[in-house]
Amino acid sequence: MAHPYFDAEHSAEVVLERLGPRTSARTREVMSSIVRHLHEVVKETKPTHEEWLEAIGFLTRTGQMCSDWRQEFILLSDTLGVTMLVDALNHPRGGQATEHTILGPFYVENAPRYPNGANLCLDHKGQPLQVRGRVLDLEGNPIAGATVDAWQTNEDGFYDVQQKGLQPDMNLRGVFASEASGAYWFTTVKPRYYPIPDDGPVGQLLGSMDRGPERAAHIHFIVKAPGFQPVITHVFPPDCPFLQKDAVFGVKQSLIGDFRKTDTGWSLEWDFVLERAR
Ligand code: BEZ
Ligand code: FE
Repeated sequence: MAHPYFDAEHSAEVVLERLGPRTSARTREVMSSIVRHLHEVVKETKPTHEEWLEAIGFLTRTGQMCSDWRQEFILLSDTLGVTMLVDALNHPRGGQATEHTILGPFYVENAPRYPNGANLCLDHKGQPLQVRGRVLDLEGNPIAGATVDAWQTNEDGFYDVQQKGLQPDMNLRGVFASEASGAYWFTTVKPRYYPIPDDGPVGQLLGSMDRGPERAAHIHFIVKAPGFQPVITHVFPPDCPFLQKDAVFGVKQSLIGDFRKTDTGWSLEWDFVLERAR
């Protein structure tokens, strides 16, 4: 062992030389990187004891905030851009295919299945929005029988699961199937921006960085079809003031839709392009 005892200059090596022979290659790779970078951060920023205890306290409070309904560590990853980075590395942009973005904590499985044309808005509040489009493959051929699973907040910026008793269950959620022409269509309301849950340590961290908690307005989608890679994505209205300040970095230029004002509300034409399963 070249560094059996601690010394600050070789601190990362001291730790990494203790990795035992039964450590898997992947654990060795990941832990070596984490330890090296962590020690670099400490050497660069030179925290006082008090600051280091504050950092540990922050992580402790982040863990204590977690429950089945509140994933504060995921929120930390989201707000530091790490969730989007992991997603980008796992889903490199494939030409014309619809880009991925963040899933978020408000997805609910088994939302109601509706025929095309149904209205997702069960409490009739908000500005009506007609969404229509097609599900296509990379060559522009229609994909029939794709499922288009959509969910969003109400006009006050809350998901149904955040306002149980105030909003009808499954408000603004629904699953549609594309027709032979690839077409799907439904009515909803124009989405509004909203804050991510910011009453915990991550909200305090955002405040200390002079960053806001707002997510740019969006409709979430998961689109799936047999033989194709599923896509988890959003569409964003172009007039949202938070497109370039989205708290979780979920906005991509290609996901900003052409929302148009109509006599009765809004309309949006929005196609999904799926890549074949590998
Ligand atoms: C959402 O879009 O639902 C969301 C994403 C990340 C964090 C919080 C909310
Ligand atoms: Fe959302």
